Amino acid sequence: MLTVKIKNIEFKSPIMVASGTFGYGDEVKNLVDISQIGCIITKSVTLNPREGNPPPRIHETSSGMLNSIGLANVGVDDFCNNKLPYLNNMGTKFIINIAGSTFDEYVKVLDKIEKSNGQHVGYEINISCPNVKEGGMEFGVNSNATYKLTSKLRSITEKLLIMKLSPNVTNIEKIALAAEKGGADAVSAVNTFVGMAIDYKTGKMLLNTKFGGLSGPAIKPMAIAKIHKIYNTVKIPIIGMGGISKFEDIVEFVRAGANLVQIGTLNYKEPSIACRLYNELEQFLLENKINDINKLVGVCGK
Ligand code: DHB
Repeated sequence: MLTVKIKNIEFKSPIMVASGTFGYGDEVKNLVDISQIGCIITKSVTLNPREGNPPPRIHETSSGMLNSIGLANVGVDDFCNNKLPYLNNMGTKFIINIAGSTFDEYVKVLDKIEKSNGQHVGYEINISCPNVKEGGMEFGVNSNATYKLTSKLRSITEKLLIMKLSPNVTNIEKIALAAEKGGADAVSAVNTFVGMAIDYKTGKMLLNTKFGGLSGPAIKPMAIAKIHKIYNTVKIPIIGMGGISKFEDIVEFVRAGANLVQIGTLNYKEPSIACRLYNELEQFLLENKINDINKLVGVCGK
């Protein structure tokens, strides 16, 4: 069995696609059988439209990707008018990712979406973007700010509330605990690690903003460690991510403590990877006589 629940919401697959890698669902409709995906997390939505950072804003590394998109998106009004109708009719669960520079921005965006007729099952709150000058990651590195924001958002929605955590902290457990205390239904972890790359010949920095977020297989062991620490600290479900590229990685994340997972960077290489890994995971469970993936959560030891 591969169905997984967060609160009252049942997902037919524990595999979601990560924010920013599937647009608003419409960009990939000819490439993927969307019905096979557990849940699509939309690209971050902010109050106003954003152009994002100037290029170059993506750089491929030997086993990952550095990016500094700067939350380019259409803004919440355009999102509600022109993106939500497609998402509503996709036939697959979706969660709306929200980002902001200030406390009030997060609140306003969520409030506007609440008043639309969205069929989304919840919100993922990006308190971990490394690429904007203000806000973003500032919330995710401070447990007090995380608690305050989570409690406020909790008071205005009954849908799933998931806080997306930054790995760029000394003590991620403390932030996860603040999210749990604030009333979050789950945490997703981890967002990208701050990274930088330089052209060795010219000395030129390879991202316009100098620093960016590193994702992909390079970060997997670090992500696993963070997830296990969170698992040992909170009771709410964990959505694990960080460099998943094969079904074995999913099992590893689950054993570390994740209830669900997200695939991010690898979607760019193979847009239907979430479907392929679902089938491979199902086969693995069958071959190993494991009748329910939930039984593997946190099962690891020396
Ligand atoms: C962006 C946002 C993120 O949360 C991230 O991890 C990387 C990039 C962005 O839009 O710049």
